[in-house]
Amino acid sequence: MSSEKVLVLNATGKVGRNVSKAFLEAGFEVYGTTRSSNSSLPGMGVKPVVCNYTQREDLDKAFTQSGAKKVFVITDYFAAAKKNANLEFEQGRAAIDAAKAAGVNHLIFMSVADAEFFDEHVLHLHAKVDLEKYLRSSGVPFSILRPCAFFENLDDAANWNPLKKGVVKFLSLHHNKFCATYDIGRAAAIQLKAPDQWLSQSLDVIGWQGNLEQVAEALSKVSGVPVKAKLAMPIFFRRLFLKDLHHMFLYYEVQKGPLGTPEAFKKVLPDAMSAEDWFRFHGKYANGERIVQA
Ligand SMILES: NC(=O)c1ccc[n+]([C@@H]2O[C@H](COP(=O)([O-])OP(=O)(O)OC[C@H]3O[C@@H](n4cnc5c(N)ncnc54)[C@H](OP(=O)(O)O)[C@@H]3O)[C@@H](O)[C@H]2O)c1
Repeated sequence: MSSEKVLVLNATGKVGRNVSKAFLEAGFEVYGTTRSSNSSLPGMGVKPVVCNYTQREDLDKAFTQSGAKKVFVITDYFAAAKKNANLEFEQGRAAIDAAKAAGVNHLIFMSVADAEFFDEHVLHLHAKVDLEKYLRSSGVPFSILRPCAFFENLDDAANWNPLKKGVVKFLSLHHNKFCATYDIGRAAAIQLKAPDQWLSQSLDVIGWQGNLEQVAEALSKVSGVPVKAKLAMPIFFRRLFLKDLHHMFLYYEVQKGPLGTPEAFKKVLPDAMSAEDWFRFHGKYANGERIVQA
């Protein structure tokens, strides 16, 4: 039997790459969108579809070219929507409408855990709430995944936080909940393979919880090198320069959100990644040096 096709939007991103990897491992034929005609997707086994995932005409072409009836949809406030929640909503709506026009039988939408509970300053989550509502009323068969903070934030050179040997930095020292983007993909594959169980359902993706000291201990254990836990910037600057993210962290730090637990997620994905697992999986520091020495 030929494998089922799935289209991954923004397949070159942090989420898209690892979701594509998980789909390939689950036996799907994976098509991934990228604006580049020269991406590294073929090297991963992903069939590239040249497409700007924020543009309706491009999305229509991507569905026609791939023939996929399953799709993994993300939107992105910071880059693709240029910090404009209305634009992010329009981009997400274009993806849902294109999926409907293409006769998609299962759309997975990546939202954010507890998106509706953050205060009004957390602008980057406004569109997620509205898009969930739009999707629920669209008539497109769907499931929703609601991840918490990505482990990938611990090695994020684009946001001035490259992972370096002996130190791990984050915008909070407190207890936080984390997930691996790869586990978003593994959960999505489970949903696509069991539509009877997962259509119209939502799942929080939360793999592990701990404070930054515990994250540092995990990296130390994996690398064999002592690791310091440090704030990526003083809280005073976080409040001053990153108001949106500062208020997101206040929900985590003061209100102890998100409400979901690793225990609940592990009922669906029993081997969801811990911090140690993620450092082994990630494999290298930002400069390319291996975390686990051979
Ligand atoms: N960080 C977290 O902890 C966290 C937690 C939960 C949810 N999220 C959500 O994750 C999403 C971001 O996903 P991600 O981290 O995978 O994204 P990402 O890594 O920033 O995506 C990068 C890709 O976006 C494409 N891109 C960049 N600028 C673009 C533009 N102007 N127009 C169209 N495409 C553009 C590029 O692909 P090409 O050049 O190949 O086209 C690039 O490879 C957001 O919705 C965020 O809310 C994040």
